[in-house]
Amino acid sequence: MPKLTYHSHACFVLEHGGKRIVFDPFLTGNPRADIEAAALPKLDAILLTHGHGDHLGDAVPLAKKHHATIVAPYELALYCGEQGAPDVHPMHIGGAHEFPFGRVKLVVAFHGGMVEGENAAKYTTFPCGYVVTVGGKRVYHTGDTALTMEMQLLEGRVDVMLLPIGDNFTMGIEDAVRAVAFVKPKVAIPMHWGTFPVIEADPQAFKQAVGSLAQVAVLEPGQSYDF
Ligand code: NI
Ligand code: MN
Repeated sequence: MPKLTYHSHACFVLEHGGKRIVFDPFLTGNPRADIEAAALPKLDAILLTHGHGDHLGDAVPLAKKHHATIVAPYELALYCGEQGAPDVHPMHIGGAHEFPFGRVKLVVAFHGGMVEGENAAKYTTFPCGYVVTVGGKRVYHTGDTALTMEMQLLEGRVDVMLLPIGDNFTMGIEDAVRAVAFVKPKVAIPMHWGTFPVIEADPQAFKQAVGSLAQVAVLEPGQSYDF
């Protein structure tokens, strides 16, 4: 049974069949993180939605420590390789690939593409969302994004949807509820809320607004969800 563990912001660990991947491991400097990067268990892969500091986070040091594969949009993957990540797997939006841990597909996210700490804009790229299939279940991590019509392409194809509700940089609650209506996942898990004052949001208000559209699992940092 696949298991998701929330470590705050957009960081989730997904475990299944003895493999473990992490999305957007922003732990160092994250006031809501429940765990230090050094305390994460063995990782097989690190999936990055974009290069902003609150997503790229500890990715490169973790990749070095665990010899984990970094999966990212092409330009961001090259950047991570240049920073010394031992194994990078560049992909791009619309493409899918079978990894030992499962299938990964990159999907559209509407957001900024700057890579933190890189000033020449050489690695600036499109951010992405991920649809990851493990154990026959599909997890959609939207990344940082606005509500997009493209989400409708995933209607009925998602078991668990991880989506931002914090507003300001991404969807807020109102648009996140519409995103759930577009995708119709079995379960929605809110993310990208409460890390900083500007993205304070009430996940229970989101849950209430989603109503019968989907089940909502509100995870606090450190909590897990089996599906
Ligand atoms: Ni961002
Ligand atoms: Mn962000």
